[in-house]
Amino acid sequence: MIFGRKNAVGVDIGSHSIKVCLLSESGRGLFLKRFDVAPLPPDSVVDGAVMNFPQVQDKLKELVAANKLKGRPAVLSFSGHSVIVKKISLPEMTQQELDASIMWEAEQYIPFDIKEVNVDVQILDPKAGQGQMDVLLVAAKKDIISDYASIAVEAGLEPAVVDVDTFAGQNMFELNYGFPPNETVALINVGASMININIVSNGITQFTRDISMGGALLTEEIQRQLGVSYEEAEHYKIGGTDSISSSAVFKEVQRLSDRVAGTLVTEIQRSVEFFKATSVGEEISRVYLSGGAAQMAALIRLIEQRLEVPAELVNPFKNIVIDTKRFDIALLQKIAPSAGVVVGLALRRPGDK
Ligand SMILES: Nc1ncnc2c1ncn2[C@@H]1O[C@H](COP(=O)(O)OP(=O)(O)OP(=O)(O)O)[C@@H](O)[C@H]1O
Ligand SMILES: [Mg+2]
Repeated sequence: MIFGRKNAVGVDIGSHSIKVCLLSESGRGLFLKRFDVAPLPPDSVVDGAVMNFPQVQDKLKELVAANKLKGRPAVLSFSGHSVIVKKISLPEMTQQELDASIMWEAEQYIPFDIKEVNVDVQILDPKAGQGQMDVLLVAAKKDIISDYASIAVEAGLEPAVVDVDTFAGQNMFELNYGFPPNETVALINVGASMININIVSNGITQFTRDISMGGALLTEEIQRQLGVSYEEAEHYKIGGTDSISSSAVFKEVQRLSDRVAGTLVTEIQRSVEFFKATSVGEEISRVYLSGGAAQMAALIRLIEQRLEVPAELVNPFKNIVIDTKRFDIALLQKIAPSAGVVVGLALRRPGDK
């Protein structure tokens, strides 16, 4: 992607929806050029793996056509069990030496055959002490990467960069909020079937974890308890009071929502406790939430209560200029929490690692 300097389009294939985002940069800042979302039928994507190729392909094709994105480089992203992100400690060495030895080093940290994965490494702290350095190891299964790439190609895009949901979220956060010095914050993305936790101190990742759980749990609960379809359950969840005529049903949805939020927060809390137990002197000062399911009514309140830190919903478009003639601001605000990952992807440049 040396020619043309076409900006890359971020493509986030989530289990609930595909999001695309295109940004452009000028002296006056970052501008939103395209942003669009296409819902996916349930079970099209399971644990980061595409289960229903034609469905996903068609939806992405529609998005590419509707937003005139054909021929653009694409930045794709993964999460789930096919991606391993680990902070490891190695003897001090240069990036060059690290690149040369990493396949060998990585083997013991990866539960897959090393030949089946692409490995990327980044030095986090070159002098962690006692001749050791901290390194971030990212390994993604090749078959999943090629699945995603072929979907992008089929849709008329040119796959250029692959990223991980967690780090895309981190880039989005840095753009909009910046990392305060000497502070530790938790970035938590609550999607439909995945929660990505990323604890960051001074802009450096200290701990990451993906939990296979999310807002889909509530959809399933509503379907089961109220005997309604997937579409109806989604409608109940998102529409709030307006979507539900009977107050008894509304109360029941609220009760289920609170219960599921409790389950999700228990899992989040477990990870945060683990981080606390394994780190020294790093107190989380704030939790920043993104992801569609972070909008569940009780979630923020429960996080604040149980983790005893303030929590807030992130606005991925905070530092992005939006032309109000081209975008419906009210609608954009409504779906903004889901855009955390895709905005982070759109910030990447073709040629980036
Ligand atoms: N206002 C809302 N209140 C509660 N839940 C919501 C709301 N809006 C969206 N959701 C839920 O958020 C989830 C979708 O979030 P998101 O778009 O972040 O997921 P995804 O990226 O497609 O999935 P994943 O990354 O987990 O594979 C769905 O479960 C959806 O029902
Ligand atoms: Mg997602």
